[in-house]
Amino acid sequence: MNTNDILDILSRTDKYISGQALADALGVSRQAVWKGIKSLRERGYGIDSVTNKGYRLSKLPDHLNASAINKYLRTKIIGSDLRVLDSVGSTNDYLKQLGNDGAPNGTVITTREQTKGKGRLGRTWQSAPDKNLAFSVLLRPKMTPAEVGEVTPLAGLAICKALREITELDCMIKWPNDVIVGRKKLVGILTEMSAEYDAVEYIVIGIGVNVDQSVFPEEISYKATSLLLETGRHFDKNMLLGSFLNSLEKEFTRTNLSLTRDVLDEYEKMCVTVGRSVTFRHDNRTLSGIAVGIAEGGRLKVMLSDGTIRKLGSGEVTVQGIY
Ligand code: BTN
Repeated sequence: MNTNDILDILSRTDKYISGQALADALGVSRQAVWKGIKSLRERGYGIDSVTNKGYRLSKLPDHLNASAINKYLRTKIIGSDLRVLDSVGSTNDYLKQLGNDGAPNGTVITTREQTKGKGRLGRTWQSAPDKNLAFSVLLRPKMTPAEVGEVTPLAGLAICKALREITELDCMIKWPNDVIVGRKKLVGILTEMSAEYDAVEYIVIGIGVNVDQSVFPEEISYKATSLLLETGRHFDKNMLLGSFLNSLEKEFTRTNLSLTRDVLDEYEKMCVTVGRSVTFRHDNRTLSGIAVGIAEGGRLKVMLSDGTIRKLGSGEVTVQGIY
């Protein structure tokens, strides 16, 4: 028996359930049930016990846990298979493994700690225990590998909208998909995929949100921030994750995973990059120009000094005045 089996039963009711009923339901001894209850209490669950009545779940722990996340979840697909780990190297790597083993569309992995979190362009991503949110979502869309580039901006849009609503911060998207506040980064997104030549097998969208981190390593402190630093408040990570998953499903369903002109216009309004001077590398040269809009496929439209327009795919772009 797994202690989560006891939790599953207790979290479905607010009535007391006797030790014998739990033992019968799980096919174990009352002694095993008692041990399970003890271990759940040690993990931060409040479980009342009353003689002749049994056990009742009275408090969920503050840290990430599936029962608390499920309280906020309003989705049909995303998070229908939701797993919360105590520690993992990278939620993206873990979920890709599950994807190879056939995990269904909408599977979500989150973790209290990442030890080998990955960022874009080969960088690392820090997720210290119980400080930040790190989660990955698996999708099995019917699309070509070339179309996958449209999904990440949609994820950025969904997270940015949810953050604005929850925190009232003036969050913006730094193209292609960082969410920033002021000049600093709050959210990073890394999308990976497994595909045949012309068809996607699955996509893993990995999202890292800085929640309670108050000190960042020196090399990134000029460009990183957290909800705690920006608002002075501690946000419940279970509520945040539930809301992010709700928002992702809403955007993905509404848009059918494609960046129509309407969606691009909405993205453009929230995109801090548009209207600013940018520099980027092309053919071993550094070019600069002004970002003038978001083109089809989510590409960044940049006007160079000679008036020509370049449409950039998701590479490294430096935005003047940001990072
Ligand atoms: C970036 O901005 O460079 C992207 C950062 C993406 C970090 C998230 S945290 C959850 C998921 N697992 C990973 O290893 N990376 C992504």
